[in-house]
Amino acid sequence: MKAPSWLGPRRAAALAERFGTPFYAYSSRLLRARSRALAKAFPSAAIRYAMKANANPAVLEAVRRAGLGVDTVSPWEVLLAREVGFRKKQIIYSGNMPSDDDLAAVHREGVMINLDALSSLRRYGRLAPGAKVSLRVNLDVGGGHHPHVITAGSESKFGLAPEELPEARAIAAEHKLRIVGLHQHIGSGIFELDLFLEALDPLLALLVDFPDLEFVDAGGGFGVPYRPDERPIDLEAWGRAITERFDAAARRYGRPLQLMLEPGRYVVCEAGVLVARVTTVKRTRDRVFVGTDSGMHHLIRPALYQSYHPVATYPLRERAAERLFFTGPICESGDLLAEERAMPLPEEGDLVVVGNAGAYGFAMASHYNLRARPAEVMVDGDDWRLVRAREGYRDVVRRRDVKRAK
Ligand code: LLP
Repeated sequence: MKAPSWLGPRRAAALAERFGTPFYAYSSRLLRARSRALAKAFPSAAIRYAMKANANPAVLEAVRRAGLGVDTVSPWEVLLAREVGFRKKQIIYSGNMPSDDDLAAVHREGVMINLDALSSLRRYGRLAPGAKVSLRVNLDVGGGHHPHVITAGSESKFGLAPEELPEARAIAAEHKLRIVGLHQHIGSGIFELDLFLEALDPLLALLVDFPDLEFVDAGGGFGVPYRPDERPIDLEAWGRAITERFDAAARRYGRPLQLMLEPGRYVVCEAGVLVARVTTVKRTRDRVFVGTDSGMHHLIRPALYQSYHPVATYPLRERAAERLFFTGPICESGDLLAEERAMPLPEEGDLVVVGNAGAYGFAMASHYNLRARPAEVMVDGDDWRLVRAREGYRDVVRRRDVKRAK
């Protein structure tokens, strides 16, 4: 991987010196650029950044300042979004399998609730008769970079099937819920505009059956290139095609309708890297392992989806390339950050920079093996600031003194 322009070897070394490793670093300029590109490509749409991709408050703040709203999946995501200053109207909650407590907590916050099971709708109706609600549908057209992230079809737990919609309307009527939104999200990591449109058409065909709609949410899932052979999507072309289809449907509908989109990865993925330090170089009979102080507990995507993340090592070592396996300290053979990379072997103490780590990186990090989650740093031009401190022993090990039974 080419070093990112905003985090070259000298800057990375300075931050590593200052904060220790590992850490995530984000470029606020790139965050702004991606947010603005979305707003420009979809000038009439309401863009709701899917904060599950990265909920660091500084990231949320940058996105908010760029004029985007947020898509949330849990009560605490809603609370944090409010704390960061998003207005109620800029927040949508699309929870899956919500508990009664979840529904009550989100309802208390007064944000739009998007539901995708008859049971949730019934329970929400009892809790909040007369409220506005949105329905998530599952129209069988899906896609994504891995089976785990495809969210359509009858084997998926997401969305209401078309045959359930009459009953959904009946439940809504019984509780005087007003169905003001229709939503779908077909999966994550989609590169084909045609697939997105193929899913959009049947969604738009449903409008006639819902007389009170205020918005249609076509979800997120916009792909971002990770591998050297992948190309970025043509966002402007996506904007034109999706807006055109939507506008035609809205005209047929005859009442004002807002197009909504909820990309997560597109906003933050390329704006983030994970920086680790090489602790241990180890050769086995078949492999050369570059052991680092980060691993699957900080970036689980390679282990979970066999995702490719570009990798660079600093400083550049002038030696012949070998096939390297980048790993961490976790007690699993699947603890890999990158596999089979033809690169010069770094030395112990060198830095490893893992690219495309802004989305679903820190957000999916864990304490597995009682390891701390890394620090997070926001880089803005020549400035940088710590936006989350590295955890310590007490953050990871919350002990409660239990009285011993007599
Ligand atoms: N809206 C809904 C309802 C979603 O479930 C998701 C993602 C998004 C929007 C945002 O999708 P995006 O634009 O980021 O593709 N951990 C996986 C991705 C899981 C996505 C889950 N839902 C990964 O690391 O690839």
